Amino acid sequence: MSTDVALGRESAMRSGPIDDAFATLARRPDVISFAVGAPDPALLPGDLVASLTAAAIAKHGNTALQYGLTQGFPPLLEQARILLGGRGIGCSPERVHISTGGSGALHNLCMAQLYPGGVVLVETPTYGPAVKVFRSHGALVVEVASDADGMLPEALDNALAQHDPAFVYLLPTFQNPTGRTMPAVRRAQVAEVITRRGALVVEDDVYADLRYRGEPLPTMWSFAPDRTVYITSLSKTLAPALRIGIAVLPDDLLEPVLALKQGIDMQTSAFNQAIAAEFLGTEVGAAHLSVLVKSYAAKLHTVVAALDEYFPAGFTWTEPDGGMFVWVAGPTGFDADALVVPALNRGVAFLPGSAFFAAPDAPRNAIRLSFASVPEHRIEPGIELLGGLCA
Ligand SMILES: Cc1ncc(COP(=O)(O)O)c(C=O)c1O
Repeated sequence: MSTDVALGRESAMRSGPIDDAFATLARRPDVISFAVGAPDPALLPGDLVASLTAAAIAKHGNTALQYGLTQGFPPLLEQARILLGGRGIGCSPERVHISTGGSGALHNLCMAQLYPGGVVLVETPTYGPAVKVFRSHGALVVEVASDADGMLPEALDNALAQHDPAFVYLLPTFQNPTGRTMPAVRRAQVAEVITRRGALVVEDDVYADLRYRGEPLPTMWSFAPDRTVYITSLSKTLAPALRIGIAVLPDDLLEPVLALKQGIDMQTSAFNQAIAAEFLGTEVGAAHLSVLVKSYAAKLHTVVAALDEYFPAGFTWTEPDGGMFVWVAGPTGFDADALVVPALNRGVAFLPGSAFFAAPDAPRNAIRLSFASVPEHRIEPGIELLGGLCA
């Protein structure tokens, strides 16, 4: 095993900044936390889940408590097909499987597609926990230059000429951590490069339904259906604790992924899948989503207004069209990493942008603000505090 692969695996076996943030916040409920990309705890639908559970058991009886197909619980597979169809993903049903969260889908894919020393190409910045998953499978994670619209097609073309990656990992919609969305033209250009080079792309699309303005864009999958693994999740719209992910695979990955998933968890909880099927199949599910969208859109507005008011000159940000994140870039010389502990001491938490780069020389001048779980009335005081510290 090369030194880089061994070091990568070692780093994946240590807790990362997001695990640490959850641990700290569990001890410090007083902190105003912009640190973790979690749904608003006040909007997690406890009563709704209780009634969906009763409906699921009434409908499916003990089947919902039994072992089942590794691919997924059939009623949820049917609802997943409808949800995907609404996003323009009209694939054959056998290509879809239910994973244990979007994270489980990434892990299943790595088991099938990644060997120690294999390369994964990622955007800069990218979703840090995914980098950990790739490294835990022995990947060499290579960053590809990106701009405000996402990965640059020419840079991807060059990287594909140089490496033969297991896959390219992209977050085209409401990216975690920057909030940016890749425009349709860029998606088409990236898909052209992927297809011409015979590469595989993973489209991580867990925020798709949290859109606050504008119209949905065509998925990467729609530009390269045979070369894309599409991953989405109900964590952000129903409840993370149910651990329901949905993945669409190209034909050649179907059998290996499901065979390997069987060895990990046999199947994603059929009980939770039955609840999720009720959620997606009823009007109440759509009504809940519209409550979330309304609330998060208002919070985002408050975040941006507070940044305008309290952040010093030299800091920049762009209001995203959806999702949970605002990326605030500071001037050269600003060190967000050095601000984490003083901010916590003053009662406000955030993650430094450096947590979202794969290369060791990550820039340290950005802050990721995750706003969905912060109570509306605490957003402005939290940003005022942070702005004061940044000044
Ligand atoms: C980009 C991205 N992908 C995947 C996940 C994992 O989601 P899940 O809870 O479905 O495993 C997250 C969660 O924060 C995420 O931000």
